[in-house]
Amino acid sequence: MCGIVGILGREPVAGKLVDALKRLEYRGYDSAGIATLEAGKLTRLRAEGKLRNLEDRLAKEPLRGNTGIGHTRWATHGAPTENNAHPHMTGRVSVVHNGIIENFQELRTAIAETGTVLTTDTDTEVVAHLITHELDEGHDPVVAVLHTLKRLEGAFALAIIFRDHEDLMIAARQGSPLAVGFGDGEMYLGSDAIALAPFTDTITYLQDGDWAVMTRNGLAIRDREGNAVERPVQKSVASALMVDKGNHRHFMAKEIHEQPEVVSHTLAHYIDFTNTRLQLPDLPFDFTNLNRIVISACGTAYYAGLVAKYWFERYARLPVDIDVASEFRYREVPLEPGGLALFISQSGETADTLATLRYCREQDQHIASIVNVRESSIARDSDIVLPTLAGPEIGVASTKAFTCQLAVLACLAIAAGRARGHLSEQDETELVGALIGVPRHMSALLRDESGFEALSHTLSKAHDVLYLGRGVNFPIALEGALKLKEISYIHAEGYAAGELKHGPIALIDESVPVVVAAPKDALFEKTLSNLQEVAARGGQIIVLSDAGEAELGCEVMATIPMPHAHDFVNPLIYAIPMQLIAYYTAVFMGTDVDQPRNLAKSVTVE
Ligand code: F6R
Repeated sequence: MCGIVGILGREPVAGKLVDALKRLEYRGYDSAGIATLEAGKLTRLRAEGKLRNLEDRLAKEPLRGNTGIGHTRWATHGAPTENNAHPHMTGRVSVVHNGIIENFQELRTAIAETGTVLTTDTDTEVVAHLITHELDEGHDPVVAVLHTLKRLEGAFALAIIFRDHEDLMIAARQGSPLAVGFGDGEMYLGSDAIALAPFTDTITYLQDGDWAVMTRNGLAIRDREGNAVERPVQKSVASALMVDKGNHRHFMAKEIHEQPEVVSHTLAHYIDFTNTRLQLPDLPFDFTNLNRIVISACGTAYYAGLVAKYWFERYARLPVDIDVASEFRYREVPLEPGGLALFISQSGETADTLATLRYCREQDQHIASIVNVRESSIARDSDIVLPTLAGPEIGVASTKAFTCQLAVLACLAIAAGRARGHLSEQDETELVGALIGVPRHMSALLRDESGFEALSHTLSKAHDVLYLGRGVNFPIALEGALKLKEISYIHAEGYAAGELKHGPIALIDESVPVVVAAPKDALFEKTLSNLQEVAARGGQIIVLSDAGEAELGCEVMATIPMPHAHDFVNPLIYAIPMQLIAYYTAVFMGTDVDQPRNLAKSVTVE
């Protein structure tokens, strides 16, 4: 993970580097640092914790210099201390790095044997020493970097500046994304185009294995084999505006409240609202020729895929194999050529999801992706991109991207059902109509949040919380538990309600709140029985349902009244109270809601 930036500027670059890093803080916020080159000397400033700590230090100890690099870190190797913060330096070079150098131990040993003392616990420091060693041997920077890159294994993006070369920056990409931006007599580098948006919209993306020699007048790109290559220069659509919280206390609150609107935008991309029919783009595969779909994703995006499994199987009679990408990529899954592999990702940069996509590509699958960042690696590597129109999601805990992913998946499942002859035109109209009604139900739920605030007081005292759901709402229980864990740090688990009696019921006593998604669908009676089992053991039940309290037939601690909607769309609607429960609990507990500990928004390491 981590975010990197670099600028070859015409005036001091420290301020711009920090601005760019602010836009990359979603990639990690354990520490930050910048290095600049001024009067033939490399200087750096680093600070533990969030970027504002670095800003405070820079206010007191400004860095000058028109050439510089910067970094915001999500620690992998070495604790998140100032000493381990990037940039890493020797007297001759300074380096920032995103990713992992897998053979760093072996390289550290080799460097130590030459008598050089390594001063950090990071994998990155080896890069600075290896390049310096090459320069000391008399090689020029380009050759020094080339020799060094050949010794590095793993996935990384690097930016390097040199003491003796004011008009030079070398960048390298192997696995981790890198965008180069063109300015007027200035050049920029960043982990993504969003970081560079305030400075330029003219962007080139380095491809895997590329390394680039940048000067203020342009760049020369070489591929892994050392051949000179051209990469397309394109106009980035990343917005230069810094997204703000509006009237909300946190980005997460803002993003929860944006859902009626962004789900509506997303649906409008796939639905003809006037005729209550689907209007999907042309798909480069035919649902009738498929025997199954494979879906892979991570975290919340994986839960969206799990909901889609229920939809595809029920409405299109199309079997779905789904797995978290970190497992899928190593399982050596046999895949019939010509099949459909579907990837879901908000960032479009998740390393495991991308690796799984590449595995499926090698197995001759059609590659479709549902992504929120259209310029991302996953989007660029797909045969077809089905975008979510959620807008930038800044809160680390995913909310609006999830419901937008569900919206796209729902449309795709209806399309599959129609194509395979399991849904009639009338069914299509009914299901599309139900989707069109979702934003209205979401708005209704978001109108009064007082119940969630009250509930947060009880939940904040719990050590463990269970979440239950059945059928298509089982993944929503998993998602509810993940949200609570991530931002309140309370241990929570999601279970299929029917699975409770096979073990987890042993956990239940008066101290364990149990959140149950219990819509009045075909499985309502079954869920009710599970609810009663919990009640009989003293569990504190919080039930989300469109059924009246009398219909529940047992004592519950709290009821969150839900709108009565078509069971097809319940996952989109039930996601909202799950998010609000977690949000209010975290706010009451005073955690860092938008940037919870140990997490990062975009997980570009495996
Ligand atoms: C949870 C969350 C993560 C992400 C996961 C995948 O709130 O945000 O679990 O869903 O890291 O990220 P993307 O969707 O960017 O591939």
